[in-house]
Amino acid sequence: MNKRLIIPDQFRMNASLLFRKSALCLALSLAFAVAPSLQAQTEEMTEMEERMDIIQDGYRTIGRGLRRPDPSQLPEFIKSAETMKEEAVKCKELVPLKIKQMPEDQQAEAIKKYKAEMDVFIATLEEMKTVLEAGDFEQANVVFDKLKNEKSEGHEEWKTDD
Ligand code: HEM
Repeated sequence: MNKRLIIPDQFRMNASLLFRKSALCLALSLAFAVAPSLQAQTEEMTEMEERMDIIQDGYRTIGRGLRRPDPSQLPEFIKSAETMKEEAVKCKELVPLKIKQMPEDQQAEAIKKYKAEMDVFIATLEEMKTVLEAGDFEQANVVFDKLKNEKSEGHEEWKTDD
């Protein structure tokens, strides 16, 4: 008897579908292979770096907004200034890697100086929030320049050169 294997239509795969499925499998395998190394990178970040990244998001949002002032976006910028301030308050209580690597007898003095500079930064962020609440874009530009200087001076002094 001549037996034929009958494959129902819904199980038939054309070549292009087979190719797409293989490509998907390959992409998934790659994703699983790469994920652990990405996770290792995140684990290596200090808490301060993570908080600074959030500060950077707000800084960029406000910076972009000031280039094309649009009053309807003020609530978003005010929220960014608030978040930046909250994160800066938390950063003030953390110790930069560079200070941790200093000889122990120099650390207390350095922490005192770092905290004083963070207080100035926090005050500038509060000022940013105030001028944005007043809808004063011109003054917001002036305050933004202050933030820019505090950022570069803070990094010059307290960031490790990695
Ligand atoms: C708008 C202002 C600021 C922005 C946008 C900013 C942004 C950043 C970014 C993106 C990083 C690196 C995070 C990473 O590696 O992924 C960083 C690190 C750092 N920043 Fe800032 N920063 C600002 C202000 C400041 C100020 C005022 C200080 C100090 C007074 C400061 C001290 C540091 C230190 C010490 C690190 C290294 C973290 C560690 O040692 O663990 N930053 N910042």
